[in-house]
Amino acid sequence: MVDGVSAAAEPFDEVERYERFMEVVRARMTSREFDASYVVPREHHEMIVEAARHAPSGADAQPWHYIVVTDPAVKEQLGEHFVRERYRRIELGMNFPSPNYRGMKTAPGLIVIVADFRYVKAFPVLGDGSELDLMYRQNAERILLQSVAASTMAAHLAAAALGYAVWWVTAIGQEEAQRALRPLLGVPDELSLIDIMCFGPPKKPPYKRWKKQLDEIMSWDRYDLAKFRTDAQIDEWIEKDRPRVMYRDESRID
Ligand SMILES: Cc1cc2nc3c(=O)[nH]c(=O)nc-3n(C[C@H](O)[C@H](O)[C@H](O)COP(=O)(O)O)c2cc1C
Repeated sequence: MVDGVSAAAEPFDEVERYERFMEVVRARMTSREFDASYVVPREHHEMIVEAARHAPSGADAQPWHYIVVTDPAVKEQLGEHFVRERYRRIELGMNFPSPNYRGMKTAPGLIVIVADFRYVKAFPVLGDGSELDLMYRQNAERILLQSVAASTMAAHLAAAALGYAVWWVTAIGQEEAQRALRPLLGVPDELSLIDIMCFGPPKKPPYKRWKKQLDEIMSWDRYDLAKFRTDAQIDEWIEKDRPRVMYRDESRID
């Protein structure tokens, strides 16, 4: 027995358990504004990060750290950064229906996810700065990124299981944002702020967003070319459908 878990018992057809799991998976929905008066109990934060802790990761490196932010002043500063970033993207004419980040300032639950990319060394890399080394390094970084996403997803599902609406924010990738936000949270320069997870009771009922149908995303044995989308079809989706499916009524500026 490891970490309170014993080997799974047969049979492998636990449909009822699957359905209970899918209830949580289906009910996970994004909200960008929450009931600001609600206080998330400490144990809920711990339950959520406990789910994240069990995630798989390349080389079992577990290259993540979760900072639970409870200080309203820090939430305000984080949120303000995103509000400003949103306006900058609009001013720069970036073709992206950026959402309103105001709700981050008062999100009852706010967890900053920190990644440690120094773990690239845990994967096959040459370490000599050559082109080949770069190729392996990029692959190692992708592995680490996927690992943190796997862990983050477990946290989101745990929050959804508790009944909260969730909000996954990644808009902090740029080095400039890293430099601005690390000191706010006391994060060493070696580490990267990779995601912010907000959660809480939604201010208004969340809605289920468009999801592709099962047969659209699935092939058997070989990639089914009937499902292949051309560049023109993707451009058309970005132009016509993306604004509608992404944000509905949340992309307005106010
Ligand atoms: C990797 C990832 C990055 C995301 N980044 C952002 C973000 O920076 N800002 C934001 O408002 N929403 C972000 N989202 C939320 C998506 O817009 C949302 O999940 C999507 O529209 C589907 O809606 P749903 O979560 O209700 O299924 C992100 C989601 C994921 C998984």
